Amino acid sequence: AQDKRESLYVLSAWAGKFFVEQLWKSEMGQVIGLNYFKERGYREDIIKKFELGYSPEEWTALVDKAQEAGFHPDYLAASGLAIERDDKSLYDRFRGRVMFPIHNLTGRIIGFGGRTLKTDKKVAKYVNSPESEIYHKSDVLYGLNFAKKAIMEEDNCYLVEGYADVLSVHQAGVENVVSSSGTSLTTGQIKLISRFTKNVTILYDGDEAGIKASLRGTDMLLEEGLNVKVLLFPDGNDPDSYVQTYGATAFKDYVKSHQQDFIFYKTNILLRDANNDPIKRAEVIRDVVESIALIPDEIKVSVFIRECSSLLDIEERILLAELNKIRLNKAKKA
Ligand code: CTP
Ligand code: MN
Ligand code: MN
Ligand code: MN
Ligand code: MN
Repeated sequence: AQDKRESLYVLSAWAGKFFVEQLWKSEMGQVIGLNYFKERGYREDIIKKFELGYSPEEWTALVDKAQEAGFHPDYLAASGLAIERDDKSLYDRFRGRVMFPIHNLTGRIIGFGGRTLKTDKKVAKYVNSPESEIYHKSDVLYGLNFAKKAIMEEDNCYLVEGYADVLSVHQAGVENVVSSSGTSLTTGQIKLISRFTKNVTILYDGDEAGIKASLRGTDMLLEEGLNVKVLLFPDGNDPDSYVQTYGATAFKDYVKSHQQDFIFYKTNILLRDANNDPIKRAEVIRDVVESIALIPDEIKVSVFIRECSSLLDIEERILLAELNKIRLNKAKKA
């Protein structure tokens, strides 16, 4: 099994090089792929550092080259780089896409994300490697290998939604940034972060999906004992579009001045939807206390209860009563 894993690492590294070569050396790679990255505002040093690539718009470009190079078809299928047809023949999973290799903590390639260059809404925007013996989606954070040093230095980790966000934010000089790659945050990913810092700032997309994911992510992070700040980007922007539109300095200023402790963020978001309906307001209060109840540290809990009391203008003893009720219910369920 160890041998098989090692073979998959070697194959993934080889495929990474293949896609990079296609990007820089093939006609289509340059005209379509490299141009695409440059038009999105990525500098050459960033394109190289993250080993971005291009997969040819052909059915078996990689499969053929890999077999020439001596890789066994079984491994091509096991890595997810190739897909097996019913008749056992293989074809490339990634075709005509710009490629984002996914690295593990030590910097070895374990999988890929490929973005389409088509604007056709019927084509999946991203195709990703499937799970394999070396790639477990739920235990990987995109960009962590490039971010870990900065995360420790800053004692903070910025969490974004996508590949493009990691690249643009990193390029702007904010290197402590990782992405959960669209999937909702997992406990495994949170445990990974907490090896380097206990402080996370969520920078998700400023759309409804991003807001929902930020609230879910907040609760999971709190439950694991991390400190959570959240920031919402305006007008449907994501970190990538914001930094590419307004520049690195404006981005850093925006983050500094708009990140909020989770309790202010959550309260504001929920109150915004509640208008002035008193029943909805009561639900907001309960909802915020539910998040506080997840925090394992009692001192933090009492600080946030006090915060919540002044924020929502409710007596502390009422919030504490609610907190105890939530805890009792949870204890009953457990
Ligand atoms: N994603 C995915 N498959 C999709 C859509 C999204 O795997 N069909 C993942 C990708 O990792 C993507 C992330 O979810 O980076 C966030 O999705 P989204 O915000 O839609 O894409 P962006 O990262 O903003 O991509 P881009 O800026 O290139 O349009
Ligand atoms: Mn494993
Ligand atoms: Mn999104
Ligand atoms: Mn996005
Ligand atoms: Mn985007």
